[in-house]
Amino acid sequence: MARRSIAAADIADYATAHSTPPDEVQRALQTATTEIAGPFAGMQIGADQGAFMSVLVSILQPAFAVEVGTFTGYSSLAIAKALPEGGRLLCCDISEEWTDVARDHWAKAGVADRIDLVIAPAVETLAALPADQQIDFAFIDADKTGYRSYYEEILQRLAPQGVILIDNTLWGAQVLADSGAEDDDTQAIRALNDFLATDERVEVAQLTLGDGVTMVRRR
Ligand SMILES: C[S@@+](CC[C@H](N)C(=O)[O-])C[C@H]1O[C@@H](n2cnc3c(N)ncnc32)[C@H](O)[C@@H]1O
Repeated sequence: MARRSIAAADIADYATAHSTPPDEVQRALQTATTEIAGPFAGMQIGADQGAFMSVLVSILQPAFAVEVGTFTGYSSLAIAKALPEGGRLLCCDISEEWTDVARDHWAKAGVADRIDLVIAPAVETLAALPADQQIDFAFIDADKTGYRSYYEEILQRLAPQGVILIDNTLWGAQVLADSGAEDDDTQAIRALNDFLATDERVEVAQLTLGDGVTMVRRR
């Protein structure tokens, strides 16, 4: 499965070519993911989205960041390498196999000591966080039917200046009513998008980056 981009391939490639390129470890991870994950390699975020996330994290300077859906580690690397001194990243996933690749590349990038990986359903990991654990940055990119639960667990702990990014929210344009798609993932993303647009607790920007990235902050 190729990485899905909501933009036409030529303009998506142009955007990637005009963003800060992946570093050596990120390039190695792209190659390793293609080799190891085969048809699942398209789950990895693109280099342009990784560059965007690194810039954002560098600005936000989060003391505590959360990622829901780590896979082989590209997005977590983009976050971890931009963390400030002492910043921590909690990674949630259910796959030992995919996250072994992530661990390997975190070590190569010298960021393993700032990441805590928990292998368990993410809703359990998030619910187990202390109620007063402030989250400064979060990236949600796991099973689509779980997104709403992850959003609620994170939002209740989101710092006043914190940001949540939610991935795949345009879902290859299948969110459009006339797409004909009615599978559970599409319906879950549509329902979340409709909910977010009217959620008075937050301010929302739907970005046409990658496969659609929704950016949320508290009002
Ligand atoms: C789209 S991939 C994440 C891609 C990753 N962000 C990257 O850029 O490489 C989704 C990941 O979510 C994980 N996942 C699926 N269901 C989950 C659940 N209930 N709890 C935690 N992780 C889950 C999968 O194992 C998979 O690694």
